[in-house]
Amino acid sequence: MKNISVIGSGTMGNGIAHVFAQHSYLVNLIDINQIALDKAIQTITKNLDRQVAKGTLTEEQKSATLKNITRHTSIEDGVKTADLIVEAATENIDLKLKIFRELDEFSPTEAILASNTSSISITQIAAITGRGDKVIGMHFMNPVPVMKLVEVIRGYQTSDETTQKIMSLSESLEKIPVEVNDYPGFVANRILMPMINEAIYTLYEGVAGVYEIDTVMKLGMAHPMGPLQLADFIGLDVCLAILKVLNTGFGNPKYAPCPLLVNMVAAGYKGAKTGEGFYKYTAGSKDLIVSDKFKKS
Ligand SMILES: NC(=O)c1ccc[n+]([C@@H]2O[C@H](COP(=O)([O-])OP(=O)(O)OC[C@H]3O[C@@H](n4cnc5c(N)ncnc54)[C@H](O)[C@@H]3O)[C@@H](O)[C@H]2O)c1
Repeated sequence: MKNISVIGSGTMGNGIAHVFAQHSYLVNLIDINQIALDKAIQTITKNLDRQVAKGTLTEEQKSATLKNITRHTSIEDGVKTADLIVEAATENIDLKLKIFRELDEFSPTEAILASNTSSISITQIAAITGRGDKVIGMHFMNPVPVMKLVEVIRGYQTSDETTQKIMSLSESLEKIPVEVNDYPGFVANRILMPMINEAIYTLYEGVAGVYEIDTVMKLGMAHPMGPLQLADFIGLDVCLAILKVLNTGFGNPKYAPCPLLVNMVAAGYKGAKTGEGFYKYTAGSKDLIVSDKFKKS
């Protein structure tokens, strides 16, 4: 596999394009939004500069990486020669189904179609294509150039051959792939999201404050960041959407999202990306400041 198309150039798409291009794959990066595409190249350049400054990449490798990426605003143009397509567009089932219908129509019939979805069923996505055996989940972690894991998700129809190809390809990117089956939340979010939800319930019930909950989990369990801070980074709207998938997918009330999370999202407090969630975020500051909403009187 040599030609990789990446759909969506947001947080995950730019990281996925970066990693493939750095490992000498030819990347067609596709987004409907030209501004998002331009911003992705700026982000990739900034991240490559950081690698050069650290001495893990040379200036020549940086230029070669950037040269390997071509931008497109049309799926039809961007997937014509693809061996593999990694979809990393907005997490929305109707949008993903529409995109996969187009990928099936415009890409070579032997191309593998992968999704970076955090929670949408790979089996359901595969079912709208005519090549269910070649549809698979490739769940990269954020930030992609740094995080080693790729959760490789086998849909109901995914073939052994497709799975093997994606496992080897992930290794060629210096990642560690782990094979899992397609059930709600896969493995990563099935275990992570209930922990985050429980941390929010602990706050909601007044057992402890934001700082105390995160400190217990950081110092007591050696987690690099507390669950409330992590939820802010993932995006509280994203956490809520994944909990809803778990709740409906398993029909089990243990996954029901905490009412505090539901309220925060409805009020627009979605975490770091909106400037406030459990903590307050100001540009350029690395200080962790608890939101006024949760300050103790
Ligand atoms: N953010 C994370 O930490 C994270 C981690 C793992 C997986 N994911 C998954 O990765 C995917 C992308 O998430 P993100 O955080 O990068 O989102 P994002 O909002 O940062 O980027 C999504 C991009 O998709 C583009 N897009 C929307 N419709 C499109 C279309 N029809 N064709 C082409 N591009 C289109 C948007 O313009 C945007 O630039 C989601 O499925 C998400 O669940 C996210």
